[in-house]
Amino acid sequence: MADTTKVPEVREITRIERIGAHSHIRGLGLDDALEARQVSQGMVGQCKARRAVGLILEMIKDGKIAGRALLLAGRPGTGKTAIAMGLAQALGQDTPFTAMTGSEIFSLDMCKTEALCQAFRKSIGVRIKEETEIIEGEVVEIQIDRPATGTGQKVGKLTLKTTEMETIYDLGTKMIESLTKEKVQAGDIITIDKATGKISKLGRSFTRARDYDAMGAQTKFVQCPEGELQKRKEVVHTVTLHEIDVINSRTQGFLALFSGDTGEIKSEVREQINAKVAEWREEGKAEIVPGVLFVDEVHMLDIECFSYLNRALESDMAPVLIMATNRGITRIRGTNYQSPHGMPIDLLDRLIIVHTQPYDEKETKQILRIRCEEEDVEICDDALTVLTRIGMETSLRYAIQLITTANLVSRKRKATEVNMDDIKRVYSLFLDESRSSQFLKEYQEEFMFNEMASNDNDSVEPANENDNMETV
Ligand SMILES: Nc1ncnc2c1ncn2[C@@H]1O[C@H](COP(=O)(O)OP(=O)(O)OP(=O)(O)O)[C@@H](O)[C@H]1O
Ligand SMILES: [Mg+2]
Repeated sequence: MADTTKVPEVREITRIERIGAHSHIRGLGLDDALEARQVSQGMVGQCKARRAVGLILEMIKDGKIAGRALLLAGRPGTGKTAIAMGLAQALGQDTPFTAMTGSEIFSLDMCKTEALCQAFRKSIGVRIKEETEIIEGEVVEIQIDRPATGTGQKVGKLTLKTTEMETIYDLGTKMIESLTKEKVQAGDIITIDKATGKISKLGRSFTRARDYDAMGAQTKFVQCPEGELQKRKEVVHTVTLHEIDVINSRTQGFLALFSGDTGEIKSEVREQINAKVAEWREEGKAEIVPGVLFVDEVHMLDIECFSYLNRALESDMAPVLIMATNRGITRIRGTNYQSPHGMPIDLLDRLIIVHTQPYDEKETKQILRIRCEEEDVEICDDALTVLTRIGMETSLRYAIQLITTANLVSRKRKATEVNMDDIKRVYSLFLDESRSSQFLKEYQEEFMFNEMASNDNDSVEPANENDNMETV
């Protein structure tokens, strides 16, 4: 006899995320004692910085301390942005994490400090607790009376029970409609939200388990509820202060939340909202969930923004601020003064600073291996060794870029694995920064506007504008 068991339909889940620079990072890779594991959750090495950020994570989960700031400083490509992304993953869905780049604030059509203020308020969540009344019980009987004429209002009765009581409710047209829509029958356990009238089906009662054959395997069986039919249920919503601001700002209205076109928000609105939130907190209706504001490339901020940050960090509604920079001693934007990391000393004084270190050969190899897995690229061992050498001599980023291109080359020759020749080929096709500068030096006369040949002294920007850690 032919086998008639039905195979459940398997739906292929297509991956909608694209592979980005940090998509291999799934968290900070710390153990219970907050020590960084050498390789975990896509993170490799950089243990000190990861541990430091792990402590910050604990602080945030605790929720008590406001306005602390951490600066990740280190050479380009040492994983500063990666660590911040790891933190975002470790925080989970319910804690706000806002990421922005220092230069972003100059391209918005609002003033710089307003943009920063919005970023701060996007990073503070408000957890609002709401109590709703529901009716929960097992359906004993639904009785619907159709008018004899065929038209007009339908009326009916619904009998619900718990293990202790049974009550008959009168039904209006709307309720009848939703009961029919949800296909509610006798023996179902349902809840009805008293405020909205929404009906949800929880499952079938266990007492009806003998109907199993008629129901099929998908049916979920639940116990008949105990106690009273009417219950109070607590629902928790988390919104950010910024969202509350936008909804209450009369000029834009809540639709601005979707378009992102929020414009400037009046300070009176914010004051009122702060007062309201404080009131909710006192009444125990709401809780503050401090999140994280991550400002990458923080040296791009100017002196006005830095002074705003000084002040904003002192407010008790401030989130934890994490900043990253790869600059050494350089000019503070908007002034002619030089300062470490291009940030004013009085702000640096409010920060704790963590340095990221360049990777050694073993770590570089491990990161490259993880990236190959992330991009679904098979690579043979000696090719990976060569790629690691390239990564050590040029930069980690350059080596990461070569993975995709080498994979294309290997596919061209219909191989399934990237070998050493593929790596050599892309290495000769695509220059890294140092070979490209070497090339420029050799052939400078053939390029336009070349300054090395003409006058060295009349450059427009101060010479140190683009200094980074490596040159200091
Ligand atoms: N410890 C690590 N574990 C895994 N991947 C890493 C690690 N460090 C860096 N990477 C990866 O290496 C690449 C470069 O790192 P990242 O962008 O974080 O550098 P950065 O310190 O932010 O540099 P920059 O100062 O130029 O912004 C990224 O693709 C990142 O995901
Ligand atoms: Mg970065």
